[in-house]
Amino acid sequence: MSNNTTGLDGVVVAQTQLCHIDGQKGQLIIKGHSIESIANHYSFEQAASLLWHDLSNLEETPELIQQGLAQARQFCFQELSPFFQFGASLPLIEGLRMGLSRLSDTNKLPHHYLTTAAIAVLIPALLRIKKQLKPIAPNPAFDHVADFLTMLKGIFTQEEHRALTTYLVSVSEHSLNASTFTARVIASTQAGIISSVIGALCALKGPLHGGAPGPVLDMLDAIGTSDNIESWLHNELLSGKRLMGFGHRVYKVRDPRANVLKEAVSLLQQSSHHPRLELAEKVELAAIKILKQHKPDRLLQTNVEFYTALLLETLGIPRGAFTAIFSTGRVLGWTAHIMEQTQTGRLMRPRAEYIGTMD
Ligand code: ACO
Repeated sequence: MSNNTTGLDGVVVAQTQLCHIDGQKGQLIIKGHSIESIANHYSFEQAASLLWHDLSNLEETPELIQQGLAQARQFCFQELSPFFQFGASLPLIEGLRMGLSRLSDTNKLPHHYLTTAAIAVLIPALLRIKKQLKPIAPNPAFDHVADFLTMLKGIFTQEEHRALTTYLVSVSEHSLNASTFTARVIASTQAGIISSVIGALCALKGPLHGGAPGPVLDMLDAIGTSDNIESWLHNELLSGKRLMGFGHRVYKVRDPRANVLKEAVSLLQQSSHHPRLELAEKVELAAIKILKQHKPDRLLQTNVEFYTALLLETLGIPRGAFTAIFSTGRVLGWTAHIMEQTQTGRLMRPRAEYIGTMD
């Protein structure tokens, strides 16, 4: 079978020290640490330090990263503010893509800081303008997540800070998914971090990759109440549609990030009485059972996006912003892979099998 039909399934195209996934056992290891051991314990800066360490010519301690990101957020807010109004007239992910394109390769700030900061500044600013609110400037005294929440909402609780941190750390790195692969291909041409991150964001935009959590909420809305679950799911599958938040190219068991995020949603729910979790748990159980009936030869389980949707909704983030928020965490992995590729890799230039006509 040609790679056209396999979607490069199982093809090894790079070596990495960043991440190992065992899709049969449901294990995700980031630089030697299981996702369960870091997601609820690391700060954003500690996750950045873990991923970036030894890949740049900087000392990547969490403290220095906090300072560097604070400085980069301030720069980005100033530099990108003339674009905010126009950017906010576009769908958020497009506004983000255009905003990143305004960063120059000649910028003196380290580009892994610059891109990470730009994403964290653009999303809240564009979302606030969409709601007719004034953007809030970053505060250099805050850590990355606290500053992001402040720029987004003005005030936030410690529980919200922990939940968002857990989410961002959980999605920070996941080996050669479509967007990270894209980033590595671009990096292999030595186009630089900014271009590689923009390319990765474009790959993330699609509904089969980062675009699923919004539709997960649409699904819960459409189901509405527990007594509709089974008939709704059956109908969806009978009409040839996919159930969003289920299935994964690598995991053939439950995505380990689903557990971590479900726990984070429950903790958050205790403080804000979110009513959705109970319905979601029932939908999850029914979906796995019904997917098994409809696709008996496939192993389709819950993926990261299912509980991502609930977590981000509980944080008051609009569903149209979910894919963009994903990039706030994943940019750590993208930039680490870009730097790793630049240090160790060769130009990526695969071949296609010609199946056209000959004279
Ligand atoms: N609902 C219904 N059927 C599904 C689903 C699903 N969620 N996922 C896979 N299938 C079916 C396909 O229709 C296909 O069936 P067929 O062979 O009878 O035509 C078969 O299972 C393909 O299975 P896989 O090879 O495991 O799927 P693939 O690796 O090509 O796709 C993907 C993985 C894109 C994630 C897929 O499971 C999907 O579309 N899920 C829904 C979207 C989603 O949740 N995306 C987020 C993924 S996580 C992330 O990227 C951050």
